Amino acid sequence: MKKIGLASDHAGYPLKEQVKEWLKALGYEFVDFGTHSTESCNYPEFAHALAEAIEKGEFETGIAICGTGNGINMTLNHHDAIRSALCWMPEIAALARQHNDANVMVMPGRFISPESAKECVETFLATPFEGGRHQARIDAIPVKK
Ligand code: RB5
Repeated sequence: MKKIGLASDHAGYPLKEQVKEWLKALGYEFVDFGTHSTESCNYPEFAHALAEAIEKGEFETGIAICGTGNGINMTLNHHDAIRSALCWMPEIAALARQHNDANVMVMPGRFISPESAKECVETFLATPFEGGRHQARIDAIPVKK
């Protein structure tokens, strides 16, 4: 069974609580790296915690949420091992897996309906990477040092 890492800031907290219910219903285990309330906080703290756990191999997959999705997505993508995709409709969630082999899905908690968010979660977790021509593109993403 896949274990999912979760992270949000205060703006993403309410949707993250819903995501937990959907994950339970789908039979997934999860670990929540915070935040744990709607009290104002800074999203990088929680994004880095999730990214570092994925880098250590503790999880293959993460779901993260802030208000727009942008701040937490930018932070996650500073980590070499992370391919984090901002998703707000299931078609984009599917393509994030098929074409980008995304290992984290980010959603904009303040700008997505619960129905769309649920579909994004289900789709992201169920869709495999297509490989083929997309592999070379993914291999070329990291900045050469
Ligand atoms: C918090 O107000 C908001 O700025 C944050 O959740 C996010 O949208 C930042 O990108």
